[in-house]
Amino acid sequence: MSIQTLLQENQPLGVQVEVSAWVRTRRDAKSFSFLELNDGSCLSSLQVVVDQGVPGSEQLSQMLTGASVQVKGTLVESQGKQRCELQASEIVLLGGVADDYPLQKKRHGVEFLREIAHLRPRTNLFGAVFRTRSRLSFAVHQFFQEQGFHYVHTPIITASDCEGAGEMFRVTTLDDLSKPSSEDFFAKESYLTVSGQLEGETYASALGRIYTFGPTFRAENSNTSRHASEFWMIEPEVAFCDLNGDMNLAEDFVKYLLRDVLENQKEDLAFFNQFVEKGLTDKLKHIVESEFVRVSYAEAVEILISSGQKFEYSVQDGANLQSEHERYLTEQHFKSPVIVYDYPKEIKPFYMRRNEDGKTVAAMDLLVPGIGELIGGSQREERYEVLKELMDKEGLSQEDYGWYLDLRKYGSVPHAGFGLGFERLLMFVTGVSNIRDVIPFPRTPNSCKF
Ligand code: 4AD
Ligand code: MG
Repeated sequence: MSIQTLLQENQPLGVQVEVSAWVRTRRDAKSFSFLELNDGSCLSSLQVVVDQGVPGSEQLSQMLTGASVQVKGTLVESQGKQRCELQASEIVLLGGVADDYPLQKKRHGVEFLREIAHLRPRTNLFGAVFRTRSRLSFAVHQFFQEQGFHYVHTPIITASDCEGAGEMFRVTTLDDLSKPSSEDFFAKESYLTVSGQLEGETYASALGRIYTFGPTFRAENSNTSRHASEFWMIEPEVAFCDLNGDMNLAEDFVKYLLRDVLENQKEDLAFFNQFVEKGLTDKLKHIVESEFVRVSYAEAVEILISSGQKFEYSVQDGANLQSEHERYLTEQHFKSPVIVYDYPKEIKPFYMRRNEDGKTVAAMDLLVPGIGELIGGSQREERYEVLKELMDKEGLSQEDYGWYLDLRKYGSVPHAGFGLGFERLLMFVTGVSNIRDVIPFPRTPNSCKF
């Protein structure tokens, strides 16, 4: 039985149970030992009392921190802080532990734990983070499935560059890269995907409402606490939808996920609230209740320029907002999540819908306190002639991208979507400040261990 189940309020006492888990600590008294066991099912550990003489107790000296054991016993009322503890009737040592076990009972820094990413999920912090990650993944599917979205698996290997930023990892079997790409495995240059959007759009143009949820790869050489080379992205795409509908969906989605975690991840959240970010729970509750601010890019720039705030990079009308600008808007000025929409067309990818002003595109970014950009999305250009011209200008060939243009030729519809960076969401929900600590095995520039 899992410890999570055993510790539930309604679990009857006095019954025989069996538990398999790892030893967190052992304390020896004269005639018995206390073991604290954790099996990863929840944050709490189970206290076990092993009297000397019970079968298996002769091996107690090997049941050190990190060892794995199986215990049979009776659940009894506890004197300690927990409702119950296990009085062992039999204990078996499953796997002993070498004496260089690095996770002895003391607090370790996250930097050290990154070096032992294969063992860090056994700590309280990382156990809580990865249980939350699992719960949130489930909630993502639940949100979309409840609303009639279909889950589409877009390819991981692709020949198209969705974001047009050229930050792609090449996939090749050539031993000599000076050979022509026609001799490569796919007889053309191919890459790890930076986004499933373009392929997603084709499915939205048939199934109506779709989402993707998968790994995404970017060869950007930015060594920040919020960028990973491999990260997970959720990309819904909705047919018959404009930018307003897109912003509404983004806001509903984020609130749904926060509500789910507040409801179903209480113990782990209380841990983050106490040890990682004070006030975290209140912050999340407040956001669920609040309405996200929406401002146009032009308004945002106006606010930033008249703020009198000293930024490392000065604010320039027409240029990308820097992370410090985004964080000023959401953390200082509005103190709330903010959606910035209608960006200058020059700084956004080719597929975004041109607005009537001739200057901006129907793009939107959702910015949240502590993180900055959590979501990036847009209404897509659905007009054949307009898109064709943009693609020609971008040098996107008919041969490579004709299929994307086809959607505008055969029953084109207004449609929109966005991408949410799953690790950024986890950082926001757990208060963990480095992206390397919310993904099991982080891949970042110069780092691909495990
Ligand atoms: O803003 P981005 O680049 O948008 C797209 O890829 C669109 N194709 C999405 C769409 O409209 N379907 O990326 C979307 C989100 C960002 O807002 C950010 O949260 C996350 O993905 N992201 C990263 N997360 C971690 N590491 C990186 N290097 C990231 N780059 C983007
Ligand atoms: Mg973006």
